Amino acid sequence: NKVVAIVVAAGKGKRMGNDFNKQYILLKNKPIIAHTLEVFEKSNVIDEVILVVGKEEIDFNQEKIIKRYGFQKISKVIAGGRERQDSVYQGLVEVPKDCDIVVIHDGARPFVKEAMLINSIKTAEVKGAAVIGVPVKDTIKKVKDTLEVMETPERKYLWSIQTPQVFRYELIRKAYEAVIGGDILVTDDAMAVEMLGHPVKIVEGSYENIKITTPEDLIMGERILQKEEV
Ligand code: CTP
Ligand code: MG
Repeated sequence: NKVVAIVVAAGKGKRMGNDFNKQYILLKNKPIIAHTLEVFEKSNVIDEVILVVGKEEIDFNQEKIIKRYGFQKISKVIAGGRERQDSVYQGLVEVPKDCDIVVIHDGARPFVKEAMLINSIKTAEVKGAAVIGVPVKDTIKKVKDTLEVMETPERKYLWSIQTPQVFRYELIRKAYEAVIGGDILVTDDAMAVEMLGHPVKIVEGSYENIKITTPEDLIMGERILQKEEV
């Protein structure tokens, strides 16, 4: 069973407010993207990694990330696209045809754990599609542009969805062909699969599997790493 990971790191990190990609910010002296790739490098269930980065950042990643940290599993470093879904699609195009399972992961989520990879891959092998998520803690309301509340969905049905998102190769390939071909905007990978009418299963992850998005997340990230050290 061949398992290929696509790590997407081709965003601009606008919400971080820096003039460079947030994934090169250091956490405990190491770039965020290197923390993320290290989990995949050390994993017993990942065979190969395709890294998707900004067009102008390919050389930097080859030198300062892959060589510098000695990553061996990264088979390709390719340029992403305008939206996250374009970057994922570019990755999918590069997946070797003998692949069985595709693991899609945000470069900006450095706290992914081996157990999440194992559990989501296991579920995707059986069900076709599995995503990591956690139950929401807040009440979520659906709100109009005018900030008037439309409705309050029952919290017990609401989960916050993270990555990894894991799929059988044929299924995710077909789902993304439809999304890209149809010029449809999806906010996560599972949504592409849902649009085909294929069920998606959630695998419970961790509240620490945060996406580094805004400056507060860096403080949280340092704390998580500190906790892991002891
Ligand atoms: N991503 C990507 N290609 C894009 C946009 C996003 O590969 N065109 C990646 C990001 O690098 C990140 C992940 O998708 O690892 C999740 O996206 P997000 O957190 O939104 O990152 P950015 O788009 O970089 O941040 P922002 O939205 O604040 O600009
Ligand atoms: Mg974004």
